[in-house]
Amino acid sequence: MGALFARNGNMTRNQQHILYRVAAPADSEAIVHLLADVFPKHDPPAVAIGVTTPEFEEFVRLLLPQSEVDGLTLVAQQHGTGELAGVMLSLDSASPMPEALDRLPPKFLPVFEILGHLEDQYRKGSLPSPGESVHLYLLGVSSRFAGQGIAQRLVAESTATAARRGYRFAVTEATNRTSQHIFRKNNFVERVQGSYALNPVFASIVNHGGPILMDKAI
Ligand SMILES: CC(C)(COP(=O)(O)OP(=O)(O)OC[C@H]1O[C@@H](n2cnc3c(N)ncnc32)[C@H](O)[C@@H]1OP(=O)(O)O)[C@@H](O)C(=O)NCCC(=O)NCCS
Repeated sequence: MGALFARNGNMTRNQQHILYRVAAPADSEAIVHLLADVFPKHDPPAVAIGVTTPEFEEFVRLLLPQSEVDGLTLVAQQHGTGELAGVMLSLDSASPMPEALDRLPPKFLPVFEILGHLEDQYRKGSLPSPGESVHLYLLGVSSRFAGQGIAQRLVAESTATAARRGYRFAVTEATNRTSQHIFRKNNFVERVQGSYALNPVFASIVNHGGPILMDKAI
């Protein structure tokens, strides 16, 4: 157990008070609420399309059954309080995406399209086998815990967990400069870059360049 330390006059808990573990079914509601809180506020493409918290909740709920089957999602949890500090929702790259994604509001489409295009360029028609590639899909850290390296550690723990299960590659589409920095620090390599300038719906976030598909041998 680490010690509490004071920073800028506030009592702040350091990294050693955070437990990293594979998500359990009982974490589902907390995962939904955390991701649906941070993405609409802070992920540039989610902000650009104006996705609301309930809409993002619906999206995450559709992903959770497959995430539970694959067992690759990691959570960061505060010791003592049990509060969820962060989530790295991951799937086996060979797992099917839920068909019900089609029923989400059409505002999601530009995001699915720009990310899907990156994946098409990367895969070029050849899909990985189950157990080969882990897809690091939704990374979120509660703003109460921001800037403590929790996202970086979630990425590291997620790839380590997948590697222990025999996975050989990790892949992600990093949608903003902060997440791109986090994945680069974890030795992910840029493979395909998109551009927000190509679709007017993303006009407000062109300063983020575009999403980058990155991968890593693990
Ligand atoms: C992105 C997010 C996961 C970061 O979580 P976090 O735990 O605060 O991140 P960490 O503390 O591990 O690391 C943040 C790093 O990004 C850096 N950073 C912060 N703002 C940045 C910016 N605008 N550009 C580049 N790097 C930036 C920090 O300096 C830090 O790096 P360092 O340790 O080398 O100094 C969190 O802000 C979040 O949930 N955002 C909303 C959802 C989202 O955007 N997810 C990623 C989608 S792919």
